[in-house]
Amino acid sequence: MRHHGSLGDGGVVGDGRVVVRRVFSMRRAIRDDWPGYALDLFTYPKHYSEDLECVYIPHGVIMDRIERLARNIMDDLGDHDIVVLCVLKGGYQFCADLVERIKVLCCNSSKTLPMRVDFIRLKSYLNDQSTEDLHIVGAENLSALSGKNVLIVEAIVDTGKTMKTLLDHVKAFRPKMIKVASLLVKRVPCGTGYVPDYVGFEIANRFVVGYALDYNEYFRDLHHLCVISDSAKQKYKV
Ligand code: HPA
Ligand code: MG
Repeated sequence: MRHHGSLGDGGVVGDGRVVVRRVFSMRRAIRDDWPGYALDLFTYPKHYSEDLECVYIPHGVIMDRIERLARNIMDDLGDHDIVVLCVLKGGYQFCADLVERIKVLCCNSSKTLPMRVDFIRLKSYLNDQSTEDLHIVGAENLSALSGKNVLIVEAIVDTGKTMKTLLDHVKAFRPKMIKVASLLVKRVPCGTGYVPDYVGFEIANRFVVGYALDYNEYFRDLHHLCVISDSAKQKYKV
């Protein structure tokens, strides 16, 4: 019997083959032809009823995946002290839910993972396009990261340029170790090939909103990850 439980994070599959951990496996990748779920299968705020094409990843699936990421992080980093660096604004929900799951694991396992949580704010998107200039806000006091084990928690990596810039910035403060967890990695044509240490899902090159991801600040108040409709892109354009 094939083993489908690990979503590509490694281990021994049912037929005895060993899967190398964190190879970018198709099993956590959502295919380009995935149409999403029909909106009427789930609930969502009425004020977005004209604005969404489909539910791309339901909230419950996100939560289940985070539970597994928390366990992987605990297995790798357990018994170290870490500083969780949450990348705002989009990363707030993922970071909160990930920290929550790690907290629960700490109560129910022999390992522990003392965490401090800090925040940094990045801004580079206007409408659905990345802009050249990346603003890092709240980075003044990152000297506290010196000598620490840092886990950067981000909602989405697309070209990887933003993350590379942020990593260079954080490295300048000489942390002992840096790991990156991203809920989503987008398959884009001009990507740098950067792959975070922990990935929730690899997604198609579509603009997704919800679960704290926005389009010009809208849609953060949406439970599921959804694909925004073309009419909504016009409606909320700045
Ligand atoms: N949605 C929201 N924010 C983003 C995305 C996206 O698909 N890609 C990069 N930033
Ligand atoms: Mg944004």
